[in-house]
Amino acid sequence: MPSTTPARALIQARDLTKTYAMGDQTVHALRGVSLDIAEGEMVAIMGASGSGKSTLMNILGCLDQPSAGSYVLAGEPVQDMASDALASIRNRRIGFVFQQFNLLPRTSALENVELPMVYAGVPAAQRHQRARAALERVGLGQRTGHTPAELSGGQQQRVAIARALVNNPQLILADEPTGALDSQTSEDIMQLLTELNRQGMTVVLVTHEADIAAWARRTLVFKDGHIVEDTVREEASAAGPPQGARAPLGGSDPQSGGAWGP
Ligand SMILES: Nc1ncnc2c1ncn2[C@@H]1O[C@H](COP(=O)(O)OP(=O)(O)OP(=O)(O)O)[C@@H](O)[C@H]1O
Ligand SMILES: [Mg+2]
Repeated sequence: MPSTTPARALIQARDLTKTYAMGDQTVHALRGVSLDIAEGEMVAIMGASGSGKSTLMNILGCLDQPSAGSYVLAGEPVQDMASDALASIRNRRIGFVFQQFNLLPRTSALENVELPMVYAGVPAAQRHQRARAALERVGLGQRTGHTPAELSGGQQQRVAIARALVNNPQLILADEPTGALDSQTSEDIMQLLTELNRQGMTVVLVTHEADIAAWARRTLVFKDGHIVEDTVREEASAAGPPQGARAPLGGSDPQSGGAWGP
């Protein structure tokens, strides 16, 4: 590991490119992206539609492979791994949150949260217990039997976040997690992601909203498949978005769930 890396690098990406062949055209979704993200960072990614944000997130999340370049996640070079090895890395290290929640319909919150543990082969009793604890952690201990249709948008996103954290990942990747939510509910979700970051999870999120990006200390801006800006805010304002935007948290005890109660 290079001695210049300030904190332990969770993500080390070098010269990532991604091209798609579309008939006789080539789409250059990423044109050489290099990026280090240290363990414990919270990073927002912005940029115009089509600039490559989701393409990068899919590669960082081991959902897709780059066309060229290298990607080392937590010390493991993943760019050449086979799909079953990638699936194992995803399960162990990464939690995903999407704009449209991606919950199974007609399936309870508890069972939705259990799903990653089904894939990981966790025994049923332990699955129930851990899913219940994760739902309590996001303030939904009273809604475990509700299906997505019986939950508000913000509650559905909290179920999705509980699902993302249930295997205790190092990295949470959230692609426009507040894109389908009103501004108050978006703040609640950002407060929750910030709290998870404080508890040690590295969080990378994509957003089109400057006030959502302001929750993260570091912001990357994409343009045409490149990173064109990489800014880190001063420590003094690192505790969240600019003054006034933050409501006080009830406490960081992950068992209490009280800070985001329904
Ligand atoms: N599977 C695919 N096949 C072909 N082209 C693709 C594919 N996925 C993405 N692209 C193209 O790659 C470019 C980057 O897409 P990407 O989804 O990363 O953009 P984005 O920054 O996430 O945009 P948005 O803000 O709209 O979500 C776009 O031009 C898109 O059309
Ligand atoms: Mg996108």
